[in-house]
Amino acid sequence: MAEKFMQPNINLNSLIYPYFVKAGKGKKETIKDFAQVFRFSIDRLLIDIEEIKNLGLNKILLFGTGEKKDNFATAAYKKDNLIALAIKNIKKEFPDLMVITDVCLCAYTNHGHCGILKAHSAKRIAQSDFIDSRKTLEALAKIALSHIEAGADWVAPSAMAKKQVEAIRKELDRNGFKKTKILGYSAKFASNFYGPFRNACDSAPSFGDRSGYQLNYTDRNKALLEINDDIKDGADMVMVKPALGYLDIIREAKQKFNYPLAAYNVSGEYAMVKAYVKSIAQSARRIALEKNLVLEILTAIKRAGADFIITYHAKDIARWLIVDGV
Ligand code: PBG
Repeated sequence: MAEKFMQPNINLNSLIYPYFVKAGKGKKETIKDFAQVFRFSIDRLLIDIEEIKNLGLNKILLFGTGEKKDNFATAAYKKDNLIALAIKNIKKEFPDLMVITDVCLCAYTNHGHCGILKAHSAKRIAQSDFIDSRKTLEALAKIALSHIEAGADWVAPSAMAKKQVEAIRKELDRNGFKKTKILGYSAKFASNFYGPFRNACDSAPSFGDRSGYQLNYTDRNKALLEINDDIKDGADMVMVKPALGYLDIIREAKQKFNYPLAAYNVSGEYAMVKAYVKSIAQSARRIALEKNLVLEILTAIKRAGADFIITYHAKDIARWLIVDGV
């Protein structure tokens, strides 16, 4: 007798839905190559959050966009910065929603790198170490503190600056936030799958690339070392990013560390599914295909060992669950 297939089982509590925020009112902007993902002003964001909450999602990840860019990413940590304001508004209406914030500089620097550059860095662009580590860590700690003071539950440093988790932990502890949590983007690869995201944040580097601080995708061992470091430095959860091409790393990290683990199903992975589905002419087939693809992908990421999945598909999944019980 043929064995019965197990049904994929995606728990909405394990999904984290990313949002791009921008200043202003009444805005819901489309993003190049990023179907059905938008940049929201805070008022419109609250309306969307109401929808996803009603669909059963309870965790979000916030990114700031469209702010003034300068050498020091000042807009990211100034008083009442965009994300701090967004958090305050969200928490007022949805106190039990889990709010995680991305902590990075790339959307706020005028060169698009994830750190503050060393002085005279223009001469050093041929080298890979043009990031001033001390200044970068200070800026990241300030951003994290501003988010936590505004009411965020978790901060997620994604700059791949050495010791970023430790620097943030110290700053939070010093200010009395001993219990707030840090999700380290620990094993973050220099990937070709971040394109739509960089359109969303206008954060593509204006010179060089991120290979000086993000991981080389041929390097398994380095990924595991970075995860180990973040755990030692006080991360409450670690992450592998991207997810789909990195299931081996997710698996190994889970087995080796048995630590809370998130995987980021990134923008290019999402866009591939959307592009494939769009190429199907018949609409009924298109809808079924999208659902099946997404369930298979997320099941694979979970099966590999991720406890949480950050995914732009989360809202669709929640809808499918309610409409057809997936
Ligand atoms: C960088 C950051 C990136 C993403 C999240 N934070 C990409 C980058 O290195 O430019 C990508 C997420 C995605 O592609 O969905 N701080």
